[in-house]
Amino acid sequence: MSEKFVLASHNPGKIKEMSAILARFGVEVVSPKELGITVDVEETGTTFAENAMLKAKAICAASGLPAIADDSGLCVDALNGGPGVYSARYGGEGLDDKGRYTLLLNSLRGQTTRAAHFTCSIACAFPGGDTLTAEGRCDGTIAFAPMGEGGFGYDPVFFVPSLAKTFGQLTAEEKSAISHRGKALAAFSEKLATYLRK
Ligand code: IMP
Repeated sequence: MSEKFVLASHNPGKIKEMSAILARFGVEVVSPKELGITVDVEETGTTFAENAMLKAKAICAASGLPAIADDSGLCVDALNGGPGVYSARYGGEGLDDKGRYTLLLNSLRGQTTRAAHFTCSIACAFPGGDTLTAEGRCDGTIAFAPMGEGGFGYDPVFFVPSLAKTFGQLTAEEKSAISHRGKALAAFSEKLATYLRK
């Protein structure tokens, strides 16, 4: 299988992770930027799945190529599932990744219930109107302090008990093997392979 897809994301951390995983399945991806596409899709959905589909359909329409999008986020039990679909915007526009995870640590200060999970929804839209979807989830806890320099976003504070490390302390390969995005992309790649065989 060697097919070209647009990866509907402007997040370099995500593009790097997703292209590495998809390459293993023979899926070649280009970014909207490489195609000169500057459509900024507003994430107006209330679920990860809705937002992923909104992005995939918009970039497919703009590029005329099949488009893959993901929407993901961190759901913290003690915050009733938040920041959830608002993970990228948690704390408002002015914060960077470090500002967001510091805010999260401060919000959980004194909180002993630290369970959390990452969720990832993948959507793929084809120019003919067909769509594919897949989901992945990774359970963990919110650490009491940031650890590790790897990855992006909330990685330094997302602790995986079975490995006794945060996502930020894992190599890209170690993270992909257990992450929400790795699992969603593996499930998606299988669906895509079946679809392309038809
Ligand atoms: P979106 O999917 O681009 O709307 O944003 C998801 C947001 O959730 C990111 O900006 C990160 O803050 C967070 N996030 C999603 N996946 C990960 C991950 O693998 N590690 C760390 N943070 C993540």
